Amino acid sequence: MSHHHQREHRHGHHRALDLDAHVFGDQLTAVLDALTDALGQAAPRRVVDLGAGTGTGARLLRDRFPTATVTAVDHDPAMLHALRAQGFTTLDADLDHGFPAVGPADLVWASSSLHHVADPAALLTGARAALAPGGALAVVEVEGLPRFTTHPAETAGRAAALAAGWNHHPDWTPALEAAGFTVTRRDVTTGAADDDAAREYARLWLPRYLHVEGLDPAAADALTALLDGPLTLEPQATRALWIAR
Ligand SMILES: C[S@@+](CC[C@H](N)C(=O)[O-])C[C@H]1O[C@@H](n2cnc3c(N)ncnc32)[C@H](O)[C@@H]1O
Repeated sequence: MSHHHQREHRHGHHRALDLDAHVFGDQLTAVLDALTDALGQAAPRRVVDLGAGTGTGARLLRDRFPTATVTAVDHDPAMLHALRAQGFTTLDADLDHGFPAVGPADLVWASSSLHHVADPAALLTGARAALAPGGALAVVEVEGLPRFTTHPAETAGRAAALAAGWNHHPDWTPALEAAGFTVTRRDVTTGAADDDAAREYARLWLPRYLHVEGLDPAAADALTALLDGPLTLEPQATRALWIAR
């Protein structure tokens, strides 16, 4: 990739994260509701966000647990900069080297980050050791791929992308159990409004299916035709939440 393309790609990735947060923001709130339910009365005091990115989860956690300190961990300088700008305590650490030295934690949150890590087993074992008595680890992954329309052209593109292994993440239950946790999994599906942000996200996302290996030419043509016209959106997405204690 040229520098220009790298920059464009990076910008597109950053923008997609922010748009996902905006469009499906209620979904992480719903995930946090499920988590809060499971945690019961005791509000965590020390929260660690692993792979905090642009701060989507960290902001929700800070709002949900106002008396907690939220430590945002990442290794990407741009993400760390964005996190510091929002007032978070940050830790520059490579999660490939295991759980960072953040001291005991009551809640460890890892949203869309665990599948990036080279040695999840080591990280999970470290997380378990770092949890205070009664603490919990929440692992969140986007399940499947977002849906923007119910149009068959999108459905075909999404199916081809899933078949090609896009957004593949493991079922974390066995890895969590192997690290000594007791695990419950919940899938949370939510819809979103057909608004400007959803439109921008759809137009950033859907053309990606044109590059799926194995998408048949007729499906590609149908997708191109869909993108050439106005879109009627019914956005929907699912997140999987593993609560490990
Ligand atoms: C897809 S983003 C998720 C961001 C955020 N948690 C969210 O839910 O929107 C993954 C984040 O994990 C970070 N990350 C990936 N591998 C990492 C590693 N080995 N060490 C530290 N951070 C890592 C990336 O820099 C990125 O910010």
